[in-house]
Amino acid sequence: MTLGTTVETSPETSTDWWRSAVVYQLYIRSFADGNGDGVGDIAGIRAHLTHLRDLGVDAVWINPWYPSPMADAGYDVSDYRAIEPVFGTAEEASAMIAEAHALGLRVLLDIVPNHSSDEHAWFRAALGGDTAARERYIFRAGRGDGSQPPNDWQSVFGGGAWTRVVDGAWYLHLFDAGQPDLNWENPEVVAEFEDVLRFWFDRGVDGFRIDVAHGLVKEAGLPDVGDEPEELLDGGHRPGHPFWDRDGVHEIYRGWRAVADSYPEPKVFVAEAWVAGAERLVRYLRPDELHTAFNFPYLNTAWDATSLRTVIDESLETYATVDAPATWVLSNHDVVRHVSRMGRPHGDGGRHTLNTLPPVETLDRGLGTIRARAAAMLMFALPGSAYVYQGDELGLWEVEDLPGEVRQDPTWFRTNQEEIGRDGCRVPIPWSGTEAPFGFSPGGASAAPWLPQPADFAGVTVAAEESDPGSMLALYRAALRLRRELPGLGAGTLTWRDAPDGVLAFDREPGFTCVLNLSGAPVALPEGTRVLLASGPLAGGELPGDTAVWLER
Ligand code: GLC
Repeated sequence: MTLGTTVETSPETSTDWWRSAVVYQLYIRSFADGNGDGVGDIAGIRAHLTHLRDLGVDAVWINPWYPSPMADAGYDVSDYRAIEPVFGTAEEASAMIAEAHALGLRVLLDIVPNHSSDEHAWFRAALGGDTAARERYIFRAGRGDGSQPPNDWQSVFGGGAWTRVVDGAWYLHLFDAGQPDLNWENPEVVAEFEDVLRFWFDRGVDGFRIDVAHGLVKEAGLPDVGDEPEELLDGGHRPGHPFWDRDGVHEIYRGWRAVADSYPEPKVFVAEAWVAGAERLVRYLRPDELHTAFNFPYLNTAWDATSLRTVIDESLETYATVDAPATWVLSNHDVVRHVSRMGRPHGDGGRHTLNTLPPVETLDRGLGTIRARAAAMLMFALPGSAYVYQGDELGLWEVEDLPGEVRQDPTWFRTNQEEIGRDGCRVPIPWSGTEAPFGFSPGGASAAPWLPQPADFAGVTVAAEESDPGSMLALYRAALRLRRELPGLGAGTLTWRDAPDGVLAFDREPGFTCVLNLSGAPVALPEGTRVLLASGPLAGGELPGDTAVWLER
C-alpha cells in the first residue's frame, strides 16, 4: 500500500478533539458509487468528501471496507489489512485518507474483532484440520452422540449459534455462520489485532469503531444461557451473561489503548457495546481503556421530555465518573431510521426494529420529520460528541416496502423471513436528479443501486435540499456551523432551567440556551433571549410543540 500524506489543516488541533466531535457515519455500500456497478465505493467517497466538509462534521467513520464475501455486508472480514475490490484499492484508500485530512476531517475505520469471515485464511486452515488454526476459533465437540450443538446459544441473527463441519466438530458463530467467533483466550488473536490496529494507524487512520466490543470473551466452559428471554440487539444484557459484557474484555482494550497511545497524535476508539445500563458501559471508558462508546440508551429513548431528561442526566453523571465525554446518537445502519421511529407512537422507547415497532399504518412521516429536526438540535446542543448516520442530514426515512427478493440482511434469511432486518435503513443515498439512481451511480452505470431507491427520494436529494433553506440539510448545516462558532457548545456541562411540564430547557455557558417543547401546546420563549436557530416556525414568539430552539442570552 502506498502511504498517504497526512495534511492537518483542521482548526481543531487539540488532542481532545474527540471529546466534542461530530462524527459522520459513512456506510460505504450506500454512500456513492464511483464506478457504476451499483455499489458504493472509495471513488464515490472521494467525489463527495466536500459534502462532509460543507455539512460541518469533524470526522468520518467508514463501515468495514475490507475484503469480504458479504455474508453480513462486510462485517465478515476475510483480510483485515486490505481493501475489498468492489470498494477500490489500497492506493485509493490512502488517497482518500489524505484528502479527508486536507479537508480537516478525521478518519475512523470499523474493526471487527469478535469474528472473522469463514473465508479468512485462518478459518480455512482451521477447516483443513490444522490444530493450531482451530485454537484461534471456538471449536467444540457436540453433545450426546455429537450430533447436538455444544450448548444452547442462539445467533443474534436467528437460529443456533453453532455450525457443524465435515469432521463432526462444531464452531461457534454468535452472528451468521459465515462469521466464526475468534478465540480471544489465544495470544495469537490478541497479537494479530494489535498489529492490525498499527497497520491502519501507520496509514494515517485516526481511530476505530469497535464492532460488538462487548462480545469477545466467552465464559469458560461455555455454559448454557438457559431460558431467560434473550434481548439480543434490542437492549442490554444481564451481568454474568456467558457471552455478553464479560469482565475479560477490558484487558483486551487496555492493550489496544497502549497501542493507540504509542502514537504522538491521538488515536481514538468508539465502542459498540450493548450492555445493561450506563454503569456497565463506562467500565469500557476508564482512563486506560476506550475513549468513547455509543450511547444506545439515548437512541432507544422515547420522544418524551421525562425520559429524555432522565437519560441525559444519567449519561452525563455516569460518564463523568470516568472523565469520558458523553456521546449522542439517533440512528445507524442497524436500526430503523429515526424519522420513521419518531413518526410512530412509540411511547415506551426501546424499539428500533421493524418487527418491534407499531405497524407502518401508524406512521406519520411528516410528524417524524418535524420531530427529527427538533431531535437533531437537541443532540447537537448536548455536552459531548454526536453521531450523524448518512442520510440523517437529508431526513431520510426507513424504506419499509423493499421486496423480499432484494433484501440482503442475514437476519431475513436466518429467521425464515420473519424478521424483516436492517436493509431499509441502508438504501443508497440520493444525491441529485429526479429519478433513480438519483446521482448515486454515474450516468451510464452498468447496474442499478444494490437496493432500490423509492421514487419519493426525488424530494430529498442533496441537490434539492441545497437549494431549499427550509430543508433538513440546511438545518444540519446551520446547526453545525453554530456548534463550531459558539464557545458554549461541544464539550462541557449543562444546567437545567425551570420549565413547564413536557418542556426541556437548559443553559450552556457562555450565554447559550436550548429549549425543546414536547408538551403538545405552545410555550413562551424565555425572556431576554434572542433566537439563533429554530427547528420549525415560531408562532408569535412562542415555541410550538415538537420544536426546538437555540437562544443567545
Ligand atoms: C454490529 C454491526 C452489525 C453487524 C454485527 C455483526 O452490530 O453494527 O451491522 O451485523 O455487529 O458484526
